[in-house]
Amino acid sequence: MALRPIITCLDPALRQTSAPLEQVDDAVQRLIDDMLLTMYEAPGIGLAAIQVAEPVRLIVTDVSDEDGERNPHVLINPEILWTSDSRNVYNEGCLSVPEHYAEVERPAECRVRFLNREGKEEEIHADGLLATCLQHEIDHLNGVLFIDYLSKLKRNMIIRKVAKASRETVMV
Ligand code: NI
Repeated sequence: MALRPIITCLDPALRQTSAPLEQVDDAVQRLIDDMLLTMYEAPGIGLAAIQVAEPVRLIVTDVSDEDGERNPHVLINPEILWTSDSRNVYNEGCLSVPEHYAEVERPAECRVRFLNREGKEEEIHADGLLATCLQHEIDHLNGVLFIDYLSKLKRNMIIRKVAKASRETVMV
């Protein structure tokens, strides 16, 4: 297992549409292990493969309590089958938009079909934080970031601050 560098919203690669995985082979298993390690180390509650510069439709999440037992979800080629009319607002962040948070409204519940890491088809009905997290991560597979739900003014302000912070990091 290895930590992977996380690309930020300054990298245009994050805006591409990721391709479906054709098979769940050893290379994919290694990528999954690397992504889980990278997510826990960050720490974060979700990570899409494109955030570690792999443009494939694969996400990992773990919304369990930081002190509780780990409960990772691995979703390959996830597909949103249904979303509720009821909505939820969470203060969202993203490992690719470091240090910035904003309230985003999304459907409160969703049903997602995916392949698990054994390559078997599964469905999950999610609500609460997991529903928001799954929608946030699946957005990444389509090149969408949570800041896209904000006003252009606010989005550009955040991107400028991330750019400024990354320049300062390089100088140190
Ligand atoms: Ni994100």
